[in-house]
Amino acid sequence: MYMTAKAIVTNLISLIDTYGYVLNCARAYCTNRSQPPIFSAMVYDIYNRTGDLDLVKKALPALLKEHQFWNSGIHKVNVQEDHGRNHTLSRYYAMWNKPRPESSTIDKAHASKHLNAYEKEQFYRELASTAESGWDFSTRWMRNTSDFSTLAITSILPVDLNIFILKMELDIASMAQIVGDNRTAESFLKAAQARKQAINSVFWNEEKGQWLDYWISNGTSSQECRRWKASNQNNNAFASNFVPIWIDLFNSDTCIVEKVRKSFQSSGLLGAAGIATSLTRSGEQWDFPNGWAPLQHMIVEGFAKSGSQEAKSMAQDIVMRWINSNYVAYKETGAIHEKYDVEKCGDIGGGGEYIPQTGFGWSNGVVLAFLEEFGWPKDLKIGCNWVMHCGDEL
Ligand SMILES: *[C@@H]1O[C@H](CO)[C@@H](O)[C@H](O)[C@H]1NC(C)=O
Ligand SMILES: *[C@@H]1O[C@H](CO)[C@@H](O)[C@H](O)[C@H]1NC(C)=O
Ligand SMILES: *[C@@H]1O[C@H](CO)[C@@H](O)[C@H](O)[C@H]1NC(C)=O
Ligand SMILES: *[C@@H]1O[C@H](CO)[C@@H](O)[C@H](O)[C@H]1NC(C)=O
Ligand SMILES: *[C@@H]1O[C@H](CO)[C@@H](O)[C@H](O)[C@H]1NC(C)=O
Ligand SMILES: *[C@@H]1O[C@H](CO)[C@@H](O)[C@H](O)[C@H]1NC(C)=O
Repeated sequence: MYMTAKAIVTNLISLIDTYGYVLNCARAYCTNRSQPPIFSAMVYDIYNRTGDLDLVKKALPALLKEHQFWNSGIHKVNVQEDHGRNHTLSRYYAMWNKPRPESSTIDKAHASKHLNAYEKEQFYRELASTAESGWDFSTRWMRNTSDFSTLAITSILPVDLNIFILKMELDIASMAQIVGDNRTAESFLKAAQARKQAINSVFWNEEKGQWLDYWISNGTSSQECRRWKASNQNNNAFASNFVPIWIDLFNSDTCIVEKVRKSFQSSGLLGAAGIATSLTRSGEQWDFPNGWAPLQHMIVEGFAKSGSQEAKSMAQDIVMRWINSNYVAYKETGAIHEKYDVEKCGDIGGGGEYIPQTGFGWSNGVVLAFLEEFGWPKDLKIGCNWVMHCGDEL
């Protein structure tokens, strides 16, 4: 559906031209918050399949604008190493300090508990900023994982956000090269190099073999807190700790991939039916036991593209678990679902602030991507307890 994909990208270009970033939703009340920046990946993938140079030429100015948005003002944060260099990374930070219009009643109820007027505004900003991340809501963003009012995403440098921006920088560099703009290509290759170093210095934890989110302050805005400290890394296991292997810069390093694969295998995140979002059973939808399609996809792609046989097998194993579970749930309910419970094959996910939705685009997309990429191996198990034979009707 290249025409459809291109039309979606054209809509997003129009949003960026008007607002400077891809809105959290295409409605007036979403003009003050972004989506996770994966626009460059969309443009690059369409170009890769179609060779559509016109699209690249149209998208490049929008990409430069979006990059500027994430690398200026409140989105840009410096972290200093003790005797070393300064690193620049990005954070989510919505330009909004009121209840989210689409969830106004819920937000007011959460804020009413014990917050004063100033704290309410801060809390509303955290809610809207968490919506920007896509992970709404999760203990990942809470100072106290049993107290929702301690949501503090604007005090966190998230691993996945910075990987998306690193990919944006690499995509801009290669697309600029394609249209012959070598100066832009060079400067974005430099920016990517600097962000890679920042990611390795600030997020990488050698002992764990994972990239960890980083707390930039403990509630004060003191510059002291911007000095890198190992204790500011969030040691909890999240699927996002493994998202860096999605991009070639990391999955082409077999040594890193092997370390990360071992770490993933012992992380506790891989359940019977796929990868859990976290290990904390909080009742929030971006926590245990829920698994989400895009996280399965990014981690599978990373392992599958690597040069490690073990990592490739791991990718295949995750695909089997996910496809089996999606298929069984489909047979039972007649629908594809927005999220799944990874503890048990065929179970759908729950929790969060609305009734779970069926027919989600990203769940459908990931099923199709996995089937296209991995095909139907002869002995692929379909159903939780039985074996699918080649040629059997689906
Ligand atoms: C598309 O991507 C593949 C795999 O990464 C790569 O080998 C190929 O060169 C790309 N094609 C274009 C036109 O960029
Ligand atoms: C890092 O940034 C701080 C504050 O902006 C500055 O004082 C310091 O000189 C910088 N260090 C290096 C190595 O650039
Ligand atoms: C939303 O953004 C606009 C434009 O940047 C700004 O004027 C407005 O004050 C913002 N709204 C809130 C509630 O912060
Ligand atoms: C975290 O929140 C819970 C529930 O509100 C509370 O009982 C607990 O004391 C808090 N923990 C800390 C360290 O503040
Ligand atoms: C840009 O780079 C390409 C490939 O590296 C090269 O062939 C081309 O001559 C360069 N163009 C300019 C204007 O420097
Ligand atoms: C935050 O850290 C600073 C410096 O390490 C410390 O003085 C302060 O008490 C801490 N504040 C909170 C709320 O934990």
